[in-house]
Amino acid sequence: MKQGAAEYTSATSEGGDVVRYRLEAAEIAWEIAPGRTVRGYGFNGQVPGPVLEAKQGIPLEVEFTNRLPEPTVIHWHGLRIPAAMDGTEIVQRPVQPGETFTYRFTPPDAGTFWYHPHLNETEQLEKGLYGALIVRAADELTLDGEKVLVFDDLRVDKKGQIAKFGGLKDRHNGREGNVRLINGKSEPELTIAAGQIERWRIVNASSARYVRLSLGGLPFRIIGTDGGLIEAPVTAEEVLLPAADRVELAVGPFEKEGEVLNIEDLPYNRLAGKKGIERFGTIRVAPRKPSTARVPERLREIVPLVTADAPVTRTVKLGFKMSLRRGFDFVVNDERHHHDQPVKVGELQVWDVVNATMMDHPFHLHGFFFQVLEVNGKKPAWRSLEDVINVPPKGTVRIAWYPDDRPGMWMYHCHILEHHAAGMMAHFEVVR
Ligand code: C2O
Ligand code: CU
Ligand code: CU
Repeated sequence: MKQGAAEYTSATSEGGDVVRYRLEAAEIAWEIAPGRTVRGYGFNGQVPGPVLEAKQGIPLEVEFTNRLPEPTVIHWHGLRIPAAMDGTEIVQRPVQPGETFTYRFTPPDAGTFWYHPHLNETEQLEKGLYGALIVRAADELTLDGEKVLVFDDLRVDKKGQIAKFGGLKDRHNGREGNVRLINGKSEPELTIAAGQIERWRIVNASSARYVRLSLGGLPFRIIGTDGGLIEAPVTAEEVLLPAADRVELAVGPFEKEGEVLNIEDLPYNRLAGKKGIERFGTIRVAPRKPSTARVPERLREIVPLVTADAPVTRTVKLGFKMSLRRGFDFVVNDERHHHDQPVKVGELQVWDVVNATMMDHPFHLHGFFFQVLEVNGKKPAWRSLEDVINVPPKGTVRIAWYPDDRPGMWMYHCHILEHHAAGMMAHFEVVR
């Protein structure tokens, strides 16, 4: 399923091919279900914004125009690009209403990424400003078909509009919604032909929700995560996607034509209010078609960054603090909007990300992938490249990452947008 095509040209310039897009953010009437429309924000008149398709190693140019009534910046979540193009308020002046800014960079990695504002995020993302960005490899793994699924939840009030921010409760728990969306639509029906296997690229664009994804309880194969393919497919019946996380699945083959399966979010208690099983959509198994898909046993090699016991170079403590003025804050190393120590190009980083609170936090590092060495002292079951990882309550996640030569200001933060806004973020410089 391809979503509305953006303006797209693949032009030739002196340096070879360039992939070009034009994006415009503006207020829109967002039809979340037939006949149900909310006032929101969209890119090129739609939610999610168009799927941007880039090519690994080929320059990408996105000419962005802000037609919103407020400033914004666009962040390219997960892309290892120069700091100046990271699209945050620390590396560029916000794009004012009526202004245009052109982002130019060359995506170095194939995978499933996304783009979203990095200013007033708790409002701008809730209103619909987000979209998927696919970077294709020259020798891409193709199955019988492909789908891009962007998950989100939206809180709609009694008048049928996007609800006002819920104050301290939302600041504490993160805003979760009462309408569950895939690609901007409430509980859509997707189809897949019986007998076929498709590559599904999934993004969780929710402000706070953890999606514990199940496809009718049937097995699927996990083939990729934040930073592209993993080494070998992993068969599972569910996968947890913290806010901002991505996963790629080989889905199918399903055998029973006409069967309808639920795309569900299973119960997960992130200690911010429990939820039951909630449906995001359905899959209808369509009439059988022949399959030529083959999921290789080996997908890729990921060289471990750390082999022996490497010393921890930094501890990042995610915390919670009472505040007389604001009630409470979320902090990093006891500080709101923490200024962390610089990192040197070429010096391996081994960080302990410690969660001192009683709730889960999805830790996100900008601009670099990390490998997870341990979660609460245990090695993960498989190796992967990540830019988001859940840090369980009172838990510790040990990560390793390598600062390649992209000096500048970078950041990390909790990707529950309300926690980020409440201070659980830090910036630091990568220096030569
Ligand atoms: Cu999705 Cu600061 O990032
Ligand atoms: Cu990011
Ligand atoms: Cu958090």
